[in-house]
Amino acid sequence: MPSKKSLTAKPARNLFSSTLDAQSIFLGDNLDVLKGIPNKSVDLIYIDPPFNSDRNYEVFWGDKKELRTFDDRHGSTGAYIDFMRPRCLELARVLKPTGSFYYHCDWHASHYVKVMLDQIFGENNFQNEIVWKRFSAKNDAVRYGRGHDAIFFYTGSKAYTWNPKYGPFEPDYVEQNYRYTEEGTGRRYRLSDLTANKGGGDVDYEWHGMLPYKGRHWAYSREKMDQFLEEGRIVFRKTGMPVYKRYLDEMPGVPLQDVWTDIRLHAGAKERIGWPTQKPLPLLKRIIEASSNPDDIVLDAFCGCGTALVAAQNLGRRWIGIDVSPTACRVMADRLTSVCHLKEDRDFRVIGMEFDPVALRRMPPFEFENWAVISLGGVPNRAKVGDKGIDGRIYPTHALPKKAKKPRQMTIFDNWYPIQVKQTDKIGRPDVDQFEAVMVRENRPKGFMVGFEYTSDARREIDRFLRSAKRAIIPVTVEQILDADPELARKLV
Ligand SMILES: C[S@@+](CC[C@H](N)C(=O)[O-])C[C@H]1O[C@@H](n2cnc3c(N)ncnc32)[C@H](O)[C@@H]1O
Repeated sequence: MPSKKSLTAKPARNLFSSTLDAQSIFLGDNLDVLKGIPNKSVDLIYIDPPFNSDRNYEVFWGDKKELRTFDDRHGSTGAYIDFMRPRCLELARVLKPTGSFYYHCDWHASHYVKVMLDQIFGENNFQNEIVWKRFSAKNDAVRYGRGHDAIFFYTGSKAYTWNPKYGPFEPDYVEQNYRYTEEGTGRRYRLSDLTANKGGGDVDYEWHGMLPYKGRHWAYSREKMDQFLEEGRIVFRKTGMPVYKRYLDEMPGVPLQDVWTDIRLHAGAKERIGWPTQKPLPLLKRIIEASSNPDDIVLDAFCGCGTALVAAQNLGRRWIGIDVSPTACRVMADRLTSVCHLKEDRDFRVIGMEFDPVALRRMPPFEFENWAVISLGGVPNRAKVGDKGIDGRIYPTHALPKKAKKPRQMTIFDNWYPIQVKQTDKIGRPDVDQFEAVMVRENRPKGFMVGFEYTSDARREIDRFLRSAKRAIIPVTVEQILDADPELARKLV
């Protein structure tokens, strides 16, 4: 029945029996899911939990930016740390001694987070606080603009995976240090001393009439110096002292520092999918390349729209994602499909809590709406605010044109049935009245309501509306969706 994948999935427990089940997205509270992951089994962990921002943040769905709200309120910084501590303890348990842990946060709680992480991972395993300049400029009338995030980097021990990264040289560094330009090739180079303060073996010989400076030794053997000369790498100063010609274009760059100003997720960036807290792929690429190797396991336990998973997949790493939001899981599964060309259930899986009426009643309204609409094979509405009584639309398959000719393509989009979702215990007559108004306003012959139950008054009104207005309201129950009722499937087309 549903054209889109339903959000129901297999239970998360006991999945990691002996080996790690990678290329999996787990839908559930990470505290529960992490308990199923064996000790010391993960190479790299990146987390970007909801900040202690004491505000709602908005989720924009799809390219037309549907406005939704998520609640990331934590009553106080203390409550936020209380929420994060058991999760970080679990994360520390699953991290390999050679592994690395990155915690992404900002000024709201970063100082408290650092103290907590020192206690959990050990001060000696703290490696860096990365300052990521997130915004080019933030206007703030009463203080300096708060334009950066903090990313704390810890390791499982002193012996950890580390692949040094390099950044470009600053222009003034190049000007000062690579002062010469080779005639003919135009290559920039510097001249480096060929002596060293430590000796060993035959390193005090005379070479082309020169001895090392007093108290120093040649840095290379006589044979190596001859080879450099043959390769055109030696320049003799006026004094006769040989020096080494080091080309700028052969240098890897400046070892990357802990202030990152070169990565930004611009408003119009192609990778942007509309998730409000989406982080840029190059940021995750950098972290994953520096702190893991191909085939290593990368875990993101708050994975949102799955940026870390996409970056890990692109870099040939195995990955595990966890998110408590069904919407996030659906968004990241679609992203892995469209961006990485993976096929769900073949190349990766979404594993999660089974939905039952109790869990659905407790879900945030926005998640419940998305669950209901997507389960019916519909498309969630683009605007939460001002959605005019429509939570989603079903585009019936019979509406698809036989030939994709341009004029008929318009009919696909005009042929839709509205869906209205109510999380209340019983849908009553006033709810039906409101939906009837929507059906008449939009001139729809059919529409779907989703709820847990309907009052008999509501059902009578639905029948009356069909007889008088010749418009069919299909009252769908949550139970019918959970049971994949074949009768319902027939009504959807
Ligand atoms: C800031 S977003 C992550 C954004 C992500 N880094 C990206 O680039 O898309 C935080 C995510 O944590 C999820 N989350 C919050 N509490 C959670 C929990 N207890 N278990 C799992 N995920 C949780 C939220 O649903 C949200 O998607």
